[in-house]
Amino acid sequence: MAVDVTMQGRVAVVTIRNPPVNAVSAAVRQALWDLIPGLDADAVVLTGAGKMFVGGADLTEFDRPVEEPTLPQVIARIEGSAVPWTAAVHGVALGGGLELALACHRRVAAPGTRFALPEVSLGIIPGAGGTQRLPRLIGVSAAIPVVAEMASLDTEAALAVGLVDHIATGDLVAEAVGLALTPVPERAFAPPAPQVWAEAEARIRRSAKGATAPLLALAAVRHGVENGLTEGLRHEREVFLHLRASEQAAALRHLFFAERTAPRPVALRDTTPRPVTQVGVIGGGTMGVGIAAALRNAGLPVVLVEQNEAALARAMTALSAIFDAAQRKGAMSASDAEARLKGVRGVVGYAGLAECDLVIEAVFEDLPTKRAVFAELAQVCAPQAILATNTSYIDPRLIVESLPQPDRFLGLHFFSPAHLMKLLEVIPLPDTAADVLAAAFALAGKLRKIPVQSGICDGFIGNRILRRSRAAAEALLHQGVPFADIDAAMRGYGYAMGPFEVQDLAGLDISYMHRQAARAAGQDVPRTPGDILVEAGRKGQKTGGGWYDYAPGDRSPQPSAQTAALLAGVLPPPVTMPPEAITAALLTAMADEGQAILAEDIAQTPAEIDLVLVHGYGFPRQRGGPMFQRARGDKTGQMT
Ligand code: 3HC
Ligand code: NAI
Repeated sequence: MAVDVTMQGRVAVVTIRNPPVNAVSAAVRQALWDLIPGLDADAVVLTGAGKMFVGGADLTEFDRPVEEPTLPQVIARIEGSAVPWTAAVHGVALGGGLELALACHRRVAAPGTRFALPEVSLGIIPGAGGTQRLPRLIGVSAAIPVVAEMASLDTEAALAVGLVDHIATGDLVAEAVGLALTPVPERAFAPPAPQVWAEAEARIRRSAKGATAPLLALAAVRHGVENGLTEGLRHEREVFLHLRASEQAAALRHLFFAERTAPRPVALRDTTPRPVTQVGVIGGGTMGVGIAAALRNAGLPVVLVEQNEAALARAMTALSAIFDAAQRKGAMSASDAEARLKGVRGVVGYAGLAECDLVIEAVFEDLPTKRAVFAELAQVCAPQAILATNTSYIDPRLIVESLPQPDRFLGLHFFSPAHLMKLLEVIPLPDTAADVLAAAFALAGKLRKIPVQSGICDGFIGNRILRRSRAAAEALLHQGVPFADIDAAMRGYGYAMGPFEVQDLAGLDISYMHRQAARAAGQDVPRTPGDILVEAGRKGQKTGGGWYDYAPGDRSPQPSAQTAALLAGVLPPPVTMPPEAITAALLTAMADEGQAILAEDIAQTPAEIDLVLVHGYGFPRQRGGPMFQRARGDKTGQMT
């Protein structure tokens, strides 16, 4: 039974039982719809079985037409009931779950409950009264961040704003039953000061980054406040149904499920991860420092190894700067920042590594250097310790070749800045033990990162696709498409920066050195416009210019007369290409490379490739990823 009823005296306790998150599925709605008219009680308590009240509407049903009874119909029955309903809420009340609680006449909550309307993160707005009943209950200013900006309220905050009437200190349902027959609280509603709307709109417009739902959620709140509850509910439902069928919502649902599937590979279901309680990081450069910060943020003690005292001092300063910045942003307290820094033991030499059960190497991208590090690690680390490389391109099999205990090696490819970027590519070697691989997934969970397993190839999943899309962008240059047009098109598509702006940020010299090394090794690498810029001293933002010019202290790209002059004889005269054609060319390149990666079993599913692009390379979330776009395009005949 999706819903059951028990009587406690004259109070009916209605319990939703739909594990794992008590999603309001068609079956739950039907069961509620059927039982409400027949309830013979003086009051009703509505609750959820297991660890939460209700996690929201059932998202697995959103690719199908809406089935009756709808959630608004069920909610209207609850709200219009002749007897009072009390929601007994614990764990979470999210989306449709919060809307069910709002339909009740009173709310009792357990400590530690989270209340939120995460619909906008799924490309929709609340569709069962959330945009209407929440502002009427807690006021417009308190409701807007919850409805349109992904804010959530804990039990105490919910009590403070009037969303919750009572915090249960003992048994939740018993306390709700105890209150169920007492008079229902009355609340007055006052419309907000006019500037509240304009301020919220400006704030949301800045943070929405191409997502349509947040502003529509705000507009729905305003529409209801200005036109009354009935009209507000009608309007909200209309917008919800429209968005439910939108491309953005489909893309965001695709990622929602992919993000929950990738961390739990079926092959590792029965494997206990090898424990990881103390971690060594070798190399305190850009990546090593970011990785150490990520580990500390997850509470793991770290030993950070550098090659000399000067490099170690630089690394510790950089680490301290990361925690200082987090503190300035209000993300952690001064004492937390201090404790996190204290939990890193900086050392020169490998002596401190014997107690580490995982060591992550992040030294220069150079095979002999990495081989020397691993040979040393194999000597000093405990036999069970897991040894990982953060290499970007080097075949990890070459790094650990002929070392004993081949089952303990793997690749853990972090993304810069490693304490912020969500992606972790996990690269098993042919002999990697299952419990070592499981430990990598467990570590990703602790670090709150999205792990994606990758096979071994040049650049693994992400850098391989990046290389292909860069080549596609360069091919457009050779057709005469101005690089500024390519950047503008990709920004218009939803990227924070275009591909040439990214090169300016990261530095053009790194890939230049790669090409030079390949040329020195006898490979036929054609000369590129990037080579010309680097040789003229234009290495990107760090030299005041690359593809664009940059004023000192200003990261906004400006057209460069010098770049134009340098490339004048190299590239054909400018042509105009529509932005859609530019984005289609780059997306096609990404999806084609993705297909090749799947065909070679480097990635296991198209959805995992999408996760790599979204969480490692800034692919706009509301577009779902290149493989999602390819699949949609196969249905519509074009890249969407
Ligand atoms: N519908 C369908 N399945 C859902 C779901 C939902 N709303 N929420 C979670 N699930 C599934 C997950 O896919 C996962 O399935 P799997 O085990 O087969 O992979 C399983 O439930 C457990 O999910 P989590 O791993 O995320 O479990 P946690 O315990 O870590 O978190 C949660 C639970 C906080 C409820 C989290 O799952 C969550 O945030 N869910 C989504 C909440 C949400 O966005 N709700 C709004 C939905 S839209 C809506 O309600 C519209 C309304 O306005 C009409
Ligand atoms: P980096 O040059 O900033 O840092 C490397 C550090 O390693 C230096 O501080 C150096 O002193 C130290 N080091 C060198 N040899 C050492 C040794 N034998 N023992 C101890 N320390 C030693 O390099 P970065 O950018 O941090 O890259 C490190 C690795 O991470 C490389 O393999 C790189 O390909 C990879 N990577 C880099 C990314 C990036 O965006 N920078 C992204 C993902 C992976």
